[in-house]
Amino acid sequence: MLIKKPDDIKSSEITDKETYLNRRNFMRGAALLATTAATTWLYRELNPPPPVTRPGEKIADIVKPAPAGGFSTDEAKTSFKDITNYNNFYEFSTDKQEVSELAQGFVTKPWSVAVEGLVNKPKVYDLDDLLKLVPQEERIYRLRCVERWSMVIPWVGFSLAELLKRVEPTAQARYVAFETLYDPKQFPGQSGLGTGLDWPYVEGLRLDEAMHPLTILATGLYGEKLPPQDGAPIRLVVPWKYGFKSIKSIVKIKLVEQMPPTAWNLYAPREYGFYSNVNPNVSHPRWSQAKEQRIGEYGLRDTMMFNGYAEQVAQLYQGMDLRVNF
Ligand code: MTE
Repeated sequence: MLIKKPDDIKSSEITDKETYLNRRNFMRGAALLATTAATTWLYRELNPPPPVTRPGEKIADIVKPAPAGGFSTDEAKTSFKDITNYNNFYEFSTDKQEVSELAQGFVTKPWSVAVEGLVNKPKVYDLDDLLKLVPQEERIYRLRCVERWSMVIPWVGFSLAELLKRVEPTAQARYVAFETLYDPKQFPGQSGLGTGLDWPYVEGLRLDEAMHPLTILATGLYGEKLPPQDGAPIRLVVPWKYGFKSIKSIVKIKLVEQMPPTAWNLYAPREYGFYSNVNPNVSHPRWSQAKEQRIGEYGLRDTMMFNGYAEQVAQLYQGMDLRVNF
């Protein structure tokens, strides 16, 4: 996920583009970009996401449980060693193989999660108390990273909808915003020489995505407590989206009306959109997303639409242009 900001790119690296585009074409390109941005903005303004509930209906009434048998894949699980030693967690390091060591000693007790915003019953949950209220289960999910590697992870967690229904989102709530702990004393990356990301790491989902029974908050893996490098003590897992949506070490969940900012979109909006659904047909501007490297396997696999969860989630995006809403 190492990318360059326009400011970081040396002029020598863009000479090709300049000689290739004469000034007239360049101006045309700029005009087209401006039009595309304006169209996207207009589309969003005219098409806010629909309310999740109908008048008179409560969020609790529409929470769908996972079907009997759950959503777990029966594909071979990635080893515990790989899951816990190859991590993206920029608060610790940008080097995936260094995170596990740096994360040892991360203090996760006591831990609270504030659930607030457009809700009738805002509450700061002590994590231990919360875990007594919500049923925990194992979910074996694929995780596909935008960098083209993938894993199969046996999470322990609970449906995010179970938590949201307790705080009763109001009818105005359209999105859910998430925030990671901000603590430069514990997270060297938050004060070290810039990764370019703004801290704290933030993410967001549309309310209907957040309420989907596939979406979980994970507190463990392989039947054990979540290791710090994987986002202890509580992280989001949205298996049909690129891994960066699955924000780690969450301290705040806020229900809001407008689409919230997200860490990677703030950093490079052309490269990382709000939706970030796994889509083999829409390339990242600098690489194809058609194939992936399953960690621990030889050769490449074909990436599946919505990471293989199309049957469960495709209807959430009906009528949307997934090239515009990438
Ligand atoms: N959450 C925070 N707070 N900081 C991060 O750097 N990295 C994301 C996501 N959540 C990240 C984060 C990315 S890019 C990926 S691919 C997944 O976490 C990786 O999760 P894993 O290390 O458990 O495989």
